[in-house]
Amino acid sequence: VEIVVHSQGGNETSRIPFGLMHEDINNAGDGGIYAELIRNRAFQGSKQYPVSLSSWTPINGAILSIKNLSTPLSAALPSSMNVATSSTVSKSVGFANAGFWGIDVRKQKYKGSFYVRGSYKGSFKASLQSALTNETFGSIKVESKARKNEWVQHQFILVPEKDAPSSNNTFAVTFDPAGVTGGSLDFNLISLFPPTYKNRENGLRPDIAEAFAALNPKFLRFPGGNALEGPNLANPWKWNETIGPLKDRPGRPGVWGYQTSDGLGLVEYLHWCNDMGLEPILAIWSGLALDGAYINETDLAPWVEDALNEIEFVRGDASTPYGQLRASLGYPEPWELKFIEVGNEDWLAGAPSGYKSYTTYRFEAFKNAIEEKYPDMHIIASPSVFDNMTIPAPAAGDYHPYRQPNDYYAEFDKFDNLTPDNLTLVGEFAAVHPNGGIDWAGQLHPFPWWIGGVGEAVFMISTERNGDRILGATYAPILRNMNRWQWSVCMIEFEADVKKTTLSTSYHIFQLISTHPITHNLPTTPSTNTSSLFFVAGKNEDTGSQIFKVANYNTTDHQPTPVSLKFEGLQKGATAGLTLLTSDAGPFGYNDPAKGNNVVVTTTKTLSMGDNGTFDFMMPELSVAVVDIGIP
Ligand code: AHR
Repeated sequence: VEIVVHSQGGNETSRIPFGLMHEDINNAGDGGIYAELIRNRAFQGSKQYPVSLSSWTPINGAILSIKNLSTPLSAALPSSMNVATSSTVSKSVGFANAGFWGIDVRKQKYKGSFYVRGSYKGSFKASLQSALTNETFGSIKVESKARKNEWVQHQFILVPEKDAPSSNNTFAVTFDPAGVTGGSLDFNLISLFPPTYKNRENGLRPDIAEAFAALNPKFLRFPGGNALEGPNLANPWKWNETIGPLKDRPGRPGVWGYQTSDGLGLVEYLHWCNDMGLEPILAIWSGLALDGAYINETDLAPWVEDALNEIEFVRGDASTPYGQLRASLGYPEPWELKFIEVGNEDWLAGAPSGYKSYTTYRFEAFKNAIEEKYPDMHIIASPSVFDNMTIPAPAAGDYHPYRQPNDYYAEFDKFDNLTPDNLTLVGEFAAVHPNGGIDWAGQLHPFPWWIGGVGEAVFMISTERNGDRILGATYAPILRNMNRWQWSVCMIEFEADVKKTTLSTSYHIFQLISTHPITHNLPTTPSTNTSSLFFVAGKNEDTGSQIFKVANYNTTDHQPTPVSLKFEGLQKGATAGLTLLTSDAGPFGYNDPAKGNNVVVTTTKTLSMGDNGTFDFMMPELSVAVVDIGIP
């Protein structure tokens, strides 16, 4: 196929073509990108997930119990762990935490802290050791400042003397029972952080954050997903319970089968945006819960007010009440916030009546109030025009195609007829079911897989071709802890052991497409109708490069397709960089965290322009490639 990329015409793109979407599913937050290593650190619980001592074990006969003291650490953290002992015990006693299915121990600085209440003269020992052999990798003496009837925080830095051979490790705090008056001590908010991404306090796990940064994402949609909606009307994601000191965050029952700590809260999400240069797309609760219940029109006003307060907290200056609150927490400078999404998938939970309430009053109420106070804000509705909603321009919609790979092939031109009044965000997408399967009546595919990824490439190209009307697109979910998950098709799989972090086939494909951003699309003319090649071309006005992205979704003849590519106006003798992705395990190959294999083959080449002015290369069946004139 000969393809000419024209030098004139086309459109400016949104400049945020691909991004990230985060919610706490699959322990993506707690025990995932949120770097805290201690599981159940503050004994948070709810009706759904009662407070427990899960992950904690006694050392040397200490008796651990949950107490709800009359003077708790804080109103947000009413439960704590009582550690009872007898002064006749000669050994030190205490407790150990198993982490989020293990703890990654290396020769690096761990920052720890815990609160104690009770009278103790002596010192504590904080240590990291093997759960298998009890070998201690590092420990530190923490002098007691504990006092009767008072919660006193103790902080320490722990540097192990060596790397542990595996992540099957625990963190322990022990003390001398002879120094305790009253037979027991109470503990709460026991925390341990490894070094974090960009050294943020209360920050992100570096290996995962760096893998995301390497995708060149341009936005972050948060905090969900279903996680925003909450399991019922009493428990949506409440922004004001996720800010401030950790001792003031109660946590909440998540929607994915576990309690969340909310240590990764609103401010931490905004820091994530700052540290990766991402445009925040902040989702506010729209009054719909995942059980289908929704707020009546007459009761909605306080929630609209709450959304305005949240926005003021983020972008109001310090003279406003919520800007002042932010400043009082140590962030005097407002964040830039240009995008608000109202709800999540309001067409789904509780349909049809929940959806009707969105289209008749909920969306309007939030939109009107936000537009009035923040006329420059881009508002996004949680359904799209593809979900039977008429979205009043300039508001955009949000489309979530979780599909079979063939669907992406069949719907390549889906966005071509969107009008400028139909701005659309693709806030979630992923190939999740095999071709010809039974879709949602069956299981999700066990992992992202090669042909699924090539389908996604076709889809990403279809969004980028329409980059003036598609605001951006993001894969979801992006993380899966292999020890507890609810959704199997995710961009990155991980465990406590950083060596086991696995970048899926979809990760590699997303990365190739996302790391060559097009700021202006250019028209293309193919010599023949191609049924398997899908492509987009454009230029990057910031770097001066010209770019061509192509996916070969050929499932029939097993033959490679030759491509002759001509960039109009390009000088003779130019060279171009070709990056080609294929699978060495066929259409169904996937990257397996258990086996540690990587089925993605990356071939890079410098292409020289031929005498006829073309760059010639082959596209094997089921392959994805980028040609970049800026990268010879
Ligand atoms: O990404 C997983 C879930 O899929 C999201 O929470 C929800 O928005 C969608 O239905």
